[in-house]
Amino acid sequence: MKAYIIDRYGKADVVRAGEAAQPELRADDVLVRIHAASVNPLDLKIRDGEFKLLLPYRLPLILGNDMAGVVVRVGAAVRRFNVGDEVYARPDDDRIGTFAEFIAIKEESLALKPRTLTMEQAAAMPLVALTAWQALVEKGQLKQGQKVLIHAGTGGVGTVAIQLARHLGATVATTASAANAAMLKQLGADIVIDYKQDDFALRLRDYDLVLDSQGGATLKKSLSVLKPGGKVIGIAGPPDPDFAKARGVNALVALVMRMLSYGIRSKARAAGVSYSFLYMRASGEQLRQIAELIDAGAIRPVIDRVFPFEQAREALAYVETGRSKGKVVIKVG
Ligand SMILES: NC(=O)c1ccc[n+]([C@@H]2O[C@H](COP(=O)([O-])OP(=O)(O)OC[C@H]3O[C@@H](n4cnc5c(N)ncnc54)[C@H](OP(=O)(O)O)[C@@H]3O)[C@@H](O)[C@H]2O)c1
Repeated sequence: MKAYIIDRYGKADVVRAGEAAQPELRADDVLVRIHAASVNPLDLKIRDGEFKLLLPYRLPLILGNDMAGVVVRVGAAVRRFNVGDEVYARPDDDRIGTFAEFIAIKEESLALKPRTLTMEQAAAMPLVALTAWQALVEKGQLKQGQKVLIHAGTGGVGTVAIQLARHLGATVATTASAANAAMLKQLGADIVIDYKQDDFALRLRDYDLVLDSQGGATLKKSLSVLKPGGKVIGIAGPPDPDFAKARGVNALVALVMRMLSYGIRSKARAAGVSYSFLYMRASGEQLRQIAELIDAGAIRPVIDRVFPFEQAREALAYVETGRSKGKVVIKVG
């Protein structure tokens, strides 16, 4: 099958188009013919080797963390899917590879594609929607009437998180370039702060939750907009000890993670708030719930550009500019 592969970690030139063997099917796997994939900054970080301590992939590796397609074969133990089903998924993080014609995915990580979306639209959703869900619903326990700040509202995660937070009944503030304010208000943002001109920390106070995708100075400053007991959930790092424990990393890596987040955790504690890191995980069950919200019209995908399969490297380069609005999709079929 055709696929986009890396043989070593590095910058854009390490990604090559090539031929790979069709994935082997385990008993609880579903083989999917991929119709569309979408690009995430995670693909670039994996390509660069930034995740090699956490996810020690065997090279050569097929890139890609999001897909929509059609089931072509099911393993002997698969119960919920049949050949011909239209599905979408973020595969488990140790078995990625959606920039390809086929992928084998665990049944429990897969869900039926939202009925109201095309393949390209569906492929744009899994990783960012699961991230938003796990940050706002699972970890953040965001409730009606609460206030949430979502950084980078125009990003892949931001565009979905704003809609989900609005659906949950929260007041939503977001940071973005001024030119995108109208689009973000349409998605459900109540307050849009131009991060190039204004200081969000001077405008917002008594927030219950911050979803931070920027890290660094933005993360530190985010502590000051929270009310006592408020939470910052960071998806750009630094990783924290709970995450190290959950991943079962070795003692040295756990120590590094503890040290990397020591400063922000101490500052948060001193301010009477909390910091925690989230690394999203695959979940077919959550994708089923997300599909219901999509089909009910509560959440819609925001797509910046669709690239043909032959231009997957251009799609990666476009996301690498850091300026895309919503998602960048690769049409595979
Ligand atoms: N831990 C996890 O599980 C997890 C999951 C998903 C994503 N992430 C991480 O979260 C980050 C965001 O992911 P994404 O998919 O949303 O990225 P993305 O779609 O590539 O984000 C691009 C957007 O970010 C905006 N932006 C850039 N700098 C900004 C700033 N300082 N303030 C406000 N907006 C800014 C840009 O808007 P302008 O063009 O207007 O600047 C652009 O629209 C990435 O680092 C990604 O790796 C982590």
